[in-house]
Amino acid sequence: MTTTPTILITGASRGLGLALARSLAQRGWTLVIDARGADALEQARAELARSTRVIALAGDVTDAAHRSALVEAAQTCGGLDAVVNNASDLGPSPLPPLLDYPIEALAAVYRANVLAPLALLQAARGQLKPGARLLNITSDAGVEDYPGWGGYGSSKAALEQLSHVLAAENPDLRVYWVDPGDMRTQMHQDAFPGEDISDRPPPEESVPGLLDLLTGALPSGRYRARELAQPAADDQAAESAATAPQAGGVKELRLALTVDDFDQALALYRDGLGLPIVTDWTDGATGRSVVLGAGAATIELLDHADAAYTDSVEAGGQQAGPVRLALETPNVADAAARLQAHGAEPVAPPAHTSWGNLTQRLRTPDGMHISLYQPDPEAGDRGEG
Ligand SMILES: NC(=O)c1ccc[n+]([C@@H]2O[C@H](COP(=O)([O-])OP(=O)(O)OC[C@H]3O[C@@H](n4cnc5c(N)ncnc54)[C@H](OP(=O)(O)O)[C@@H]3O)[C@@H](O)[C@H]2O)c1
Repeated sequence: MTTTPTILITGASRGLGLALARSLAQRGWTLVIDARGADALEQARAELARSTRVIALAGDVTDAAHRSALVEAAQTCGGLDAVVNNASDLGPSPLPPLLDYPIEALAAVYRANVLAPLALLQAARGQLKPGARLLNITSDAGVEDYPGWGGYGSSKAALEQLSHVLAAENPDLRVYWVDPGDMRTQMHQDAFPGEDISDRPPPEESVPGLLDLLTGALPSGRYRARELAQPAADDQAAESAATAPQAGGVKELRLALTVDDFDQALALYRDGLGLPIVTDWTDGATGRSVVLGAGAATIELLDHADAAYTDSVEAGGQQAGPVRLALETPNVADAAARLQAHGAEPVAPPAHTSWGNLTQRLRTPDGMHISLYQPDPEAGDRGEG
């Protein structure tokens, strides 16, 4: 049997929540979703259930009993790989200026946008798998000074700051606070009553950025979803190179490692490096295996002279052998510390290479050499370590 990631998304009967749920359903993720309106939620559930396992519970995120029910549902799915606090209250429409803002209405906005997301994470903490990802959907209104947006915007500012501190307090989790950008949704229409909002992009355009956060290795922090979705020029070139006919028809590089201690290796790569499980065959009758996502794949070929030079720079001359993993990471020191927490040992101190990387060579308990690398701000670039 294959186990796939499980995610809890609040507010998934329409708008961004539904667009994200649809995309993850196509990828086979197990979904726990909610919304207050039972009819729209049931319609979403029925559609999503054609692709994946879905538990949909109608309720209000501001209700503690409903939050507990969501967490219990997550438990029946074996725990959570991710939580997305997406459900949100815009407040009164038209948007009142702050000096006219009814305070009880503001309290309701804060209950939905600030207190409920934190309370849900508090309730779900026991169900979070190692390295789980927490996405709090915020807004540019949380950082800008748009007149009329002071109630909703200040609630999103509070959610941003909660997220910021949560990230500092929980370095073992990935905490993201994400501005999805303007989207053509009911909430946006409510914010601009009677106006034509057809020029705003649909929520589907913000989903690829959220997928980057859910499946990539980005560090905790604030992101704008649609900027993430824009691959850099280099990435675009690499992507088209990977899919072009010149790639010889090869669609995926999968490096298959036979390991002595499966659980230790799984902890090292999954929890230490934060690589997501893409396919899980851990309960097969013939043995156990998993496939882990590891970003872009390339094959580097080195002759013996170049391999010896690389080993001399990175590993004090210790030889990696015919296969070495070279993994680009945003922060070599952090990644090296996480790997060491899972049994890897440094082969040599971190090195500034002549080809423009800061790199650290480690050895796993199986003897595999891993080069962690990041662009060295002090040097040029050859591209790998
Ligand atoms: N649209 C934009 O331009 C924009 C811009 C920046 C940020 N955002 C943020 O993006 C996120 C998604 O917004 P959207 O535009 O997709 O909104 P939307 O279309 O109005 O959808 C909101 C979803 O949340 C549910 N929901 C609302 N309040 C809830 C509650 N108290 N408990 C449970 N579910 C609740 C809604 O269903 P029910 O009403 O049936 O409960 C619906 O499924 C929000 O966090 C929003 O603040 C949106």
